[in-house]
Amino acid sequence: MSGVSTLITNIGELVTNAPDDRDPAGAGPFRARTSAALVIDDGQVAWTGPAGQAPAADDIVDASGRAVLPGFVDSHAHLVFAGERGAEFAARMAGQPYQAGGIKTTVAATRAASDVALRANLRRLADEMARQGTTTFECKSGYGLTVRDEARSLMLAAEVTPEATYLGAHVVPPEYAGDRDGYLDLVCGPMLDACAPHARWIDVFCERGAFDGAEAARVLAAGQAQGLLGRVHAGQLGPGPGVEVAVRAGAASADHCTFLTEADISALASSQTVATLLPAVEFSCRQPYPDARGLLAAGATVAIATDCNPGSCFTSSMALCVALAVREMHLTTEEAVWSATAGGARALRRPDVGHLGLGARADLLMLDAPSHAYLAYRPGVPLTAAVWRAGKLISARPELLSR
Ligand code: NIG
Ligand code: FE
Repeated sequence: MSGVSTLITNIGELVTNAPDDRDPAGAGPFRARTSAALVIDDGQVAWTGPAGQAPAADDIVDASGRAVLPGFVDSHAHLVFAGERGAEFAARMAGQPYQAGGIKTTVAATRAASDVALRANLRRLADEMARQGTTTFECKSGYGLTVRDEARSLMLAAEVTPEATYLGAHVVPPEYAGDRDGYLDLVCGPMLDACAPHARWIDVFCERGAFDGAEAARVLAAGQAQGLLGRVHAGQLGPGPGVEVAVRAGAASADHCTFLTEADISALASSQTVATLLPAVEFSCRQPYPDARGLLAAGATVAIATDCNPGSCFTSSMALCVALAVREMHLTTEEAVWSATAGGARALRRPDVGHLGLGARADLLMLDAPSHAYLAYRPGVPLTAAVWRAGKLISARPELLSR
């Protein structure tokens, strides 16, 4: 693979989500073609079409009938942390409810960890994502909750992704228990000043036990005034103002949406705010699943992401999320794959990823399966045959390369 251009041919099913002529920027609707080929040139998609009409290229990869999809776009993850909470998960499965208070356990471990330890854990998880076909991911701070620990969390996150999110407003840390307003002043003042240079996004956990609607709106406005773009943890543990706050602030995404009112659904449908669903959280917390069909019927844009974190959901597998979205939230396999690729790209406002239209970044996931449907049809089976990011092969099964 030393040449400039690469032809991947003999693709059983090529999912492109190629842009509409009417709206050429970013992904279009779900689109796929069989017996296809694709050319990568200079890190971008240079050609797609029928395998029989493929142009010549410097290198050739024979997909042998396998499916090729855009790489997954995981638009919600919390990967900068230390420690683990396996016992909390086991207690939950034995009947305890999920409580936001568990976050404080991870905050204590994260504060005590060295940069070296945090970086090692972060990179291990980022590599784990890449091996499973995730080629773009978002990564939040939120387990530091001091100026120093939030800023270093974001500096570390920015080493592995351009989609770093400042989540100083995750919970009020114990040392501010009697002084919420003091903590919010910090989050919207000196902590924001220290974090904004290292982040693209600002997020807030709008939930009972975390921050109410007025507090969340204040946090978003402060971040936006410093050039950050908004996203919100909304309606995870119960109904609340999160979606309304997100839509009103023009946030790119309202995430979780486990508890939605009809008004929330119409607000999302008539806005540019993506509803990002995190079905592996419902799976890991034994909660009811969000009303994905209601959102789609109303016309909202739906993304699917992992929420990978040590508390509510410790999976990095977008394939699992696709399978759960299909089985538990009644998305079609096409809708689920679209939401895990193009939907995530919309939630991150990234027109260059989530699709394989001409000029898109050449982020590809080749499955050891003939169609995208196998992601849900064969749940739990590692189906990743190869992954390219920006045209570079970053992961591949050895037998594929020796063909
Ligand atoms: O998205 N809801 C807030 N934050 C995370 C959970 C964090 C934790 O439990 O450590 C979430 O589920
Ligand atoms: Fe989260």
